[in-house]
Amino acid sequence: MNTTTRTDSEPQYRAAITAVGHWVPDDVLDNKYFASYLDTTDEWIMTRTGIRERRILRNGATSDLAVGAARVALERRGWTPDDLELIICCTVTPDMFFPATACVVQNKLGAKNCWGFDINAACSAFLFGLETARRFIESGAYQRILLIGADKMSSILDYNDRNTCVLFGDGAGAVILERSTDENGIRDSYLKIDGSGGAHLHMKAGGSLNPATVETVEKRMHYVYQEGKQVFKSAVVEMAESSALVMERNGLTADDVAFLVPHQANLRIIDATRQRMGLPEEKVMINIQKYGNTTAGTIPICLSEWWAAGKLKKGDNLILSSFGAGYTWGAILVRWAF
Ligand code: UT7
Repeated sequence: MNTTTRTDSEPQYRAAITAVGHWVPDDVLDNKYFASYLDTTDEWIMTRTGIRERRILRNGATSDLAVGAARVALERRGWTPDDLELIICCTVTPDMFFPATACVVQNKLGAKNCWGFDINAACSAFLFGLETARRFIESGAYQRILLIGADKMSSILDYNDRNTCVLFGDGAGAVILERSTDENGIRDSYLKIDGSGGAHLHMKAGGSLNPATVETVEKRMHYVYQEGKQVFKSAVVEMAESSALVMERNGLTADDVAFLVPHQANLRIIDATRQRMGLPEEKVMINIQKYGNTTAGTIPICLSEWWAAGKLKKGDNLILSSFGAGYTWGAILVRWAF
């Protein structure tokens, strides 16, 4: 397939984000905390990642983060949970293997008129969910969708592994999708997976390959395993190239793009993407210093914070971009609708 030209025909209906919300727990872990018991420093973490602190959910599960974000989005839209037709929950830290966290969220919200499911695409899950929700709306099948990116990363981190525990935090963002009434909305997407990258970022046990045993626990196999340098190299290339590709095949120059909305894994990856797109620093949403990497939460949390600060205007071109475990990656062009 030629990816440098658009293959989509104009949809009968266009999908638009019409509300945003986010929720993070109050508890903060700053870099000094890690430096107090691990061989690390605030300076190393800041210069290598851009992270100063992250939020931790002490009591509760991913669904609690998700419900917090969902309630904010629903309230801002002026809807009740019963207005929803579909709930999609993007997460790599579900409350349980099954049922889907979307079902837990539906029950906690008391949403009586919907169905739903989870999407597992790690750090790219929100983009994969956005593409899925968009197609449901474009087909005419559904008109009122709640899409959530939520992760309680603290539940799968080894707090004695300095390579991973400093990188992640807990948080959730949510968006509502409806039919657009104009040309604004989700305009293009370029998404990819490459399972050969799985070896570099995964959780070794707990699934059907290595079910939980005393041995898997003793060998510390129930935590995030990451070969950071390998992942870094691929992330820099793929986030930058997919963002530039979506820009170019939609005829957008740096002047036409209001914001890059990047997955927040590492400030240096974000900066490489920005430079490839030719954007100035002020056109990039960055909050990694406050939250670290909240996996499926990063992009919708950014959207919610920037909208709440009054920095988004109707008609703004946003390029959402991510790279994560799988590997999974891609970019989506959103023309802001409200
Ligand atoms: O969101 C999903 C996708 N994930 C990502 O995009 C993450 C991609 N990777 C990264 O962000 C970076 O690779 C890291 C931040 C994880 C690591 O940065 P790096 O510049 O690639 O460092 P490195 O892995 O090459 O490690 C350099 C050194 C190593 O020590 P030796 O082997 O050279 O002696 C590490 O052990 O830094 C060491 N190191 C640390 N030192 C102090 C690793 N973590 C720490 C730490 N504090 N927390």
